[in-house]
Amino acid sequence: MTGPVVASDIDAIRDAVRTARADAAARGVADARVALVPTMGALHAGHLALVQRAREVADVVVVSIFVNPLQFGQAEDLAAYPRTLESDVALLAEAGADLVFAPTEQVMYPNGPTVVRITGGPVASQLEGASRRGHFEGVLTVVAKLLHIVGPDAVLFGRKDAQQVFLVQQMVRDLDFPVTVEVVDTVRDTDGLALSSRNRRLGPEARIAARALHGALEAAASAADRGVDATIAAAQASLMGEPLVALDYFAIVDPGTFQPVDDGYRGPARVLVAATVGGTRLIDNDTVVLG
Ligand code: PAJ
Repeated sequence: MTGPVVASDIDAIRDAVRTARADAAARGVADARVALVPTMGALHAGHLALVQRAREVADVVVVSIFVNPLQFGQAEDLAAYPRTLESDVALLAEAGADLVFAPTEQVMYPNGPTVVRITGGPVASQLEGASRRGHFEGVLTVVAKLLHIVGPDAVLFGRKDAQQVFLVQQMVRDLDFPVTVEVVDTVRDTDGLALSSRNRRLGPEARIAARALHGALEAAASAADRGVDATIAAAQASLMGEPLVALDYFAIVDPGTFQPVDDGYRGPARVLVAATVGGTRLIDNDTVVLG
């Protein structure tokens, strides 16, 4: 199996994308579609589901691997974030990615952190944005850069980071990025825990306790037909039983606006949970139908 072409600077990835489009044309694919899967590496089956979906919607699949310092707060785990490029590329070879863009910090931010930033408005400072100040500004800015560098027709994101999806869709709409956003459902472990690069930091007890996040979403789904307050109470009660879990937030938002719903709300809503489990911060979310 030949692995993907790995490019680490901007000219090289642009050349590689151009060549891949030309190769597809030579094979008779008139308007080859290019898909980009942005990641921070330490790849797991959740990331690979995005690559698989990218294969379905495009002729050329590009995966970016870049641990973006702009989206980490000062007290956050930038230095500790796992960097496993070699095994990531091996996984991507198996998954059938064509190109990997793995730039250094110097390539992405040659003059230090960008002066120009993309902000996401009110939604960017709530929930994840309240706990991680500046996080979404860093995410949107790097995603905008990656879209400009690679120039894909489609870009793929996981539902696991629902607020990130909402904000990227808003950016693409507001700023007329010529790209389609594809969203892929959350891939979970057999016990329900959403796969995350951070899960590898959970010790054995924390790993067991971490099931409580998905448990809270299930409790919320079962209570949803009794309304918003009952749903929140059910989720909180389910989290209470797990001493290793320190809840950051549990919220129910209107999927169209990402604003918290009020008690009269009926219909589909997104329930979101964030908690620190034995020192590792985890998030999860799901859809419920409020009655
Ligand atoms: P990262 O956390 O590496 O995630 C890359 C992509 O994989 C995101 O779209 C994320 O939602 C998706 N993903 C993660 N876990 C998943 C799971 N269990 N199931 C399905 N998809 C999953 O998100 C980022 O990186 C960064 O913010 C980035 C967008 C790359 C910008 O730096």
